[in-house]
Amino acid sequence: MEKFVIKGGKALHGEVTVSGAKNAAVAILPATILAAGKCVIENLPAISDVMVSLQILSELGANVTMLDKNTYEIDTTYITSTQVPNELSRQMRASYYFLGALLGRFGTAKVAMPGGCNLGPRPIDQHLKAFTAMGAEDTVEYGMIKVSGQELHGAHIFFDVVSVGATMNAMLAACATPGMTILENVAKEPHVVDLANCLNMMGAEIRGAGTDVIKIRGVNYLHGCDYSIIPDQIEAGSYMVAAAATRGDVLVRNVIPKHLEPISAKLQAAGVLVEEFDDSVRVSATGELRPLKIKTMPHPGFPTDMQPLMTVLLSTATGTSIINEGIWENRFRYVDELLKMGANIQVDGQVAVVEGVKSLHAAPLRASDLRAGAALVVAALSANGVSEIDETGHIERGYENIVEKFQALGADIHRAEKPMADLVRAN
Ligand code: EPU
Repeated sequence: MEKFVIKGGKALHGEVTVSGAKNAAVAILPATILAAGKCVIENLPAISDVMVSLQILSELGANVTMLDKNTYEIDTTYITSTQVPNELSRQMRASYYFLGALLGRFGTAKVAMPGGCNLGPRPIDQHLKAFTAMGAEDTVEYGMIKVSGQELHGAHIFFDVVSVGATMNAMLAACATPGMTILENVAKEPHVVDLANCLNMMGAEIRGAGTDVIKIRGVNYLHGCDYSIIPDQIEAGSYMVAAAATRGDVLVRNVIPKHLEPISAKLQAAGVLVEEFDDSVRVSATGELRPLKIKTMPHPGFPTDMQPLMTVLLSTATGTSIINEGIWENRFRYVDELLKMGANIQVDGQVAVVEGVKSLHAAPLRASDLRAGAALVVAALSANGVSEIDETGHIERGYENIVEKFQALGADIHRAEKPMADLVRAN
């Protein structure tokens, strides 16, 4: 068990290179199940969610070969099992993508109820609505979800809520299913478009990804491909906020500036300087920042995954900010940790009112989930004194080499083993 030890109060300076997008990778890896032949997937982030996805593929019977630490060759030709091992599917939310991919290829799939960050209820009714519209039956028993249907067909599906997972899962199931599938009220996140681009490289016929309506003409055969995953929008945004929160000056490289617009716009409104280049953004801040009103929404709205990070930034802005969480019911659990650091934040349901304070001070902290954990790292980097953050496994699920990347920006941060005595007390 590891913790991060962070001595804050130093402005970050230099360059950081963003890794591949986690939320694209965890759908593209299951997508290789649909391909007859080898897929080479590049720019995979070396994070634990990707390692779990690769392990699931391997346990199902795929040949998985590491070409370098961010590139894997995957051959799913001889997959023998359609059941994802329980202990692996419970480790991450995205194991639900194996339902769509296995259903699309074999007409059946069984996956344990997925794990992942605890952000309040995380139903998958819209995923199941899409599968049943295509002719599958679903059963949920003893924590296992089974979907099966030997005569799948295209369908017209109108989602009741905009869901990233349901949109991508329906695309996976539909691209090798006979007939035309039309998905309406879909998610438009960059990773939805990336999955569609990857499936199209395999020979799928998907049109409209990135708009409200996606049309998929089922094809008989998908083949292997070489595909490079897009840069991670949220990882990039996290380093942008870290630069601003520490009043530093950082060039964030390997990004698609268009994907960052909702984040850049809010940072600029707060008084942060954001300069866009072809595939990088430079972020710098000095002095006082202005408060903001933010409501998280599906893309192209302000992303919920950036909400904890923006709250940290606004904790030391001059004035009152209002942050409205529009996607998840319970995404302010980290606020208690910020209060320990001297922040002045009141949460009422899905709204946080942040009264800016002069500065944050160090405290012992606990990461409750992935983005909350990243936000606490940024809070600790900007605070005076030495903070320790526990349960950093949540953070390493989604950020490749976060400690090393911050060290390269001049941060005083290192990993340390949690002493046995602390572990005993925690239990
Ligand atoms: N929803 C339903 N029914 C469904 C599916 C979703 O009611 O069948 C609701 C959810 O309860 C939520 C809203 O719809 O209120 C949006 O959920 P969505 O399905 O879009 O979320 P997700 O696919 O489970 C992905 C990301 C999350 C990110 C959300 C929103 C992955 C693996 N996870 O989750 O990322 O917060 O989209 O953008 O792609 C993270 O990376 O830290 C993370 C939590």
